[in-house]
Amino acid sequence: MDTEAFRKLVAESREKFAPGDLDRAKCADFLKHVEYVTLDATAPASAWAPLSQALSNGNGNTRIYYLSTAPSLFVGIAQRLSEAGLAGPDARIVLEKPIGRDLASSREINDGVGAVFAEHNTFRIDHYLGKETVQNLLVLRFANMMVEPVWSRAYIDHVQITVAEDLGVEGRAGYYDKSGALRDMVQNHILQLLCLVALESPNSVDGDAIRTEKLKVLSALKRIGPADVASKTVRGQYRAGLVNGKAVPGYNEEVGAASKTETFVAIKAEVENWRWAGVPFYLRTGKRMGGRRSEIVVQFKETPVPLFGEGAAGPNRLVMRLQPDEGVKLWLNMKEPGPGGLRIKSAALDLTYEEEFGVRYPDAYERLLMDVARGNLGLFMRRDEVDAAWEWADALLAAWEEQGGEPSAYAAGSNGPTQSALMLDRDGRAWWDPE
Ligand code: BG6
Repeated sequence: MDTEAFRKLVAESREKFAPGDLDRAKCADFLKHVEYVTLDATAPASAWAPLSQALSNGNGNTRIYYLSTAPSLFVGIAQRLSEAGLAGPDARIVLEKPIGRDLASSREINDGVGAVFAEHNTFRIDHYLGKETVQNLLVLRFANMMVEPVWSRAYIDHVQITVAEDLGVEGRAGYYDKSGALRDMVQNHILQLLCLVALESPNSVDGDAIRTEKLKVLSALKRIGPADVASKTVRGQYRAGLVNGKAVPGYNEEVGAASKTETFVAIKAEVENWRWAGVPFYLRTGKRMGGRRSEIVVQFKETPVPLFGEGAAGPNRLVMRLQPDEGVKLWLNMKEPGPGGLRIKSAALDLTYEEEFGVRYPDAYERLLMDVARGNLGLFMRRDEVDAAWEWADALLAAWEEQGGEPSAYAAGSNGPTQSALMLDRDGRAWWDPE
């Protein structure tokens, strides 16, 4: 592309994604500042003159470099920016996930990038942290007196965190096949969700206070070793099937090889601390499932006495729907109106974002990129968090390696391998049951 084509793309995207709510004259003025520069990220710094030139009229302003590249290029780019004199002490760098593919490669990247950019100028993106519903988790827990006192092993039976996608690998087979669901979704997005459900009350909403509490959760995650990998995890890979009424090929056809990469994973995780000991956190994610649905379900324990008869009243559930249909649902037991005995019915208080707030709310990236510009680090992963998440994921990857075997097959459009439903040992429901 050249600058003109790129400006056109920016203008069209603006019209498409934020129609009508911006001042046209300001948009036109903004576009004049947009330039498109092509360079080889692996070329020596001396070849980076076009970039220096493009940035030359911005001297004095804070520079932000957002690397949406393969992680293997992060360190080289940071070094070249430094050699070309483009990485001053105020410059910021944004790194897309994944940060490496295990603890060792992530350390290498963080050391290399860290030699040029200080930690307080390094923004590691996990776009789930920019989602409105994910940010709401902290508000729901710590701005409502009725939630936090029951938020522990004393009252909670188990937690389910599900991120199901109907998409397949969508032209990213090269990346995905080396990664798999554990590295692509669990090590980052799902563990971040788990942290926000499980963390202790931070001393403030300051970024570092929250990140310190998240780190404590990650450090308390029980390692899954070879002895319990079979009972605590399920790996799956999709075969051809029907998704939303459309026939789709299997994973191996999409990547063009007989692959052992998992496209589905279910894990029974445990947080070993006083608040959560003994409460399973069921983590599940998969590609080419029957639909796109991300939600967190907190299931409470049964009442201590079955006053209305054994099994008459089911457990309370708090369901946080992250996407689509963002909302919060609280299932309570109610008396079904009518004479002739007491019949109990489970009914939900149901808050949907659309009905309650109505307005367009920003995409995760809008929020995150604005935070980079403002210098707010709170929604970005600190280096020690990434390390701790890799330590846990590495142990599981090693256990799978030792176990050998292949992921179980599941039909595209289904709920994943059947064993994953059996893991929910405290609750007879199939995990896919709509909430
Ligand atoms: C990305 C993963 O980080 O998140 C993708 O690499 C996945 O494989 C995507 O599809 C899901 O994001 P969202 O916002 O659509 O849930």
